[in-house]
Amino acid sequence: MRIALYPGSFDPPTLGHLSIIQRGLEVFDGLTVAVLKNPAKDALFTVEERVELLREVLGNDPRVTVKTFSGLLVKFAQQENVRTVLRGLRAVSDFEYEFQMANMNRKLDPQIDTLFMMTGEKYFYISSRFVRDVARLGGDVSGLVPPVVQAALEARFAASNAAPGGSTK
Ligand code: PNS
Repeated sequence: MRIALYPGSFDPPTLGHLSIIQRGLEVFDGLTVAVLKNPAKDALFTVEERVELLREVLGNDPRVTVKTFSGLLVKFAQQENVRTVLRGLRAVSDFEYEFQMANMNRKLDPQIDTLFMMTGEKYFYISSRFVRDVARLGGDVSGLVPPVVQAALEARFAASNAAPGGSTK
């Protein structure tokens, strides 16, 4: 069985992520979606919420498992006995960061390789950060995220967007 690790923050999961997962499943027998338990203070959803959203979006596909990890990605890959990391590449601007990360990971464990898939042209401009901003400011995120994530974003910002003066907090 060829399994790849698809790591990320997924705060929140977007249609771009889903597209990579679906296309990754054309190449691999299975994927482990690995959600980073990051200490970032500006995270919108808790790690548990992100895992739940991913599980809802992915349904019961037995080929996909959603897990969390902290610390080094290569250590988690070793624990999981997985040697391929899957990442999506959107634009040239992603390249430098991804190139550095892939090489750092390879330095840390030369047995672990990173495979990049180009994000579909419909999704190349979508990022979790912009999705959070658009939702926070009351914009329409349909077409950017799955409906269940849209509902979660709307619920999260419902109170602030309803407030007089449109507080953005
Ligand atoms: O969705 P993101 O935020 O672009 O995902 C980044 C992620 C989680 C893949 C990356 O930050 C990561 O692997 N973090 C774990 C820490 C680590 O291994 N760092 C060393 C490699 S640079």
